[in-house]
Amino acid sequence: MSKAPNNFTQRVLSGVQPTGGLHLGNYLGAIKNFVPLQEQYESLFCVVDLHAITTWQDPSDLISKKCEVAAAFIASGINPDKSIIFNQSQVPEHTQLSWVLNCVARMGWLNRMTQFKDKAGKNKENVSVGLFTYPVLMAADILLYKATHVPVGEDQKQHLELTRDIALKFNNDFNKEVFPLPEPIIMKKAARIMSLRDASKKMSKSDTSDFSRISLTDSNEEIEKKIKKAKTDALPIPDSNRSLEDMPEAKNLLTIFSACEEEDFEKTFDKFKGKNFSELKRDLTEVLINKIGPIRDEMKKLNNDKKYLIQILNRGSQKAQKISIKVLKEVYEVTGLTL
Ligand code: TYM
Repeated sequence: MSKAPNNFTQRVLSGVQPTGGLHLGNYLGAIKNFVPLQEQYESLFCVVDLHAITTWQDPSDLISKKCEVAAAFIASGINPDKSIIFNQSQVPEHTQLSWVLNCVARMGWLNRMTQFKDKAGKNKENVSVGLFTYPVLMAADILLYKATHVPVGEDQKQHLELTRDIALKFNNDFNKEVFPLPEPIIMKKAARIMSLRDASKKMSKSDTSDFSRISLTDSNEEIEKKIKKAKTDALPIPDSNRSLEDMPEAKNLLTIFSACEEEDFEKTFDKFKGKNFSELKRDLTEVLINKIGPIRDEMKKLNNDKKYLIQILNRGSQKAQKISIKVLKEVYEVTGLTL
């Protein structure tokens, strides 16, 4: 096994919340990038249900939403025999480490988290305490496996910086290099996929308009309809890249095209510059159907066999715990918690 420069085993960890309605942003910004990483690194991919319950989740839906994330992982190409696909709440060390890290992280650090501010909005006094300490649990997810690399979309960058701050303070406070400082892996091509209705907002599960996002469960007809309705300008696609800066909707559609096709943005732009939006939309619809269609069909098949998906999550959680128990033991020892 290869070692990181600071002598830690190179290990990838990432997580996705089972809050339902996985979309193109989750796929292009994160899940798609997990697949090649598993060839290079020991990898763990986590269904983060404890993060999901920081906002209200219907208990009767949660199992099927967890299965949906596991199905999306597998349908996208994550091999459960090679990578560890697991469920956060089944590995209690996550919450145990999270408490210790709550005592390391500073209030001022958490007060700066923009995602909390966005999610809480004007309702700050009435959201759960869990939503506020959410990034500390995320740090625990990562540090519990001493992960060195964390593939995420750009919206998680600040949480990764916080994780590094917590790891560094922990190592300094207890005078031992227990944790590596994990590196985010953010794919430039699709770091932030924007809403199809308003390209100033990111594509998200919580947007009230279903037309703002392509869901991984959308039929070909739905994909076609949503791209047709996607907001654009009256003017054609500009000739120069600079004018594109003032056309966020065009930029977003071109970004989606280039990420699906795995080609440089410049190459995609060259193909469509000066053309009408109808041409871009026609080609993009085709590309999306080719990309999302097979994943959707495979997800559907897998979702029909919940027993199999639960078995994968159970098996993965046992494997994850083999690592997490050791790390938590080390943490308890250095912090003086061990009797
Ligand atoms: P979540 O469930 O909101 O999103 C899962 C992944 O999808 C990425 N993503 C996007 N990427 C590009 N464009 C978008 N519009 C877009 N929307 C979402 C997210 O960046 C993420 O990578 N806090 C995390 C879950 C988490 C986690 C972790 C991640 C918990 N513990 C440990 C990494 C490591 C979250 O809420 O993801």
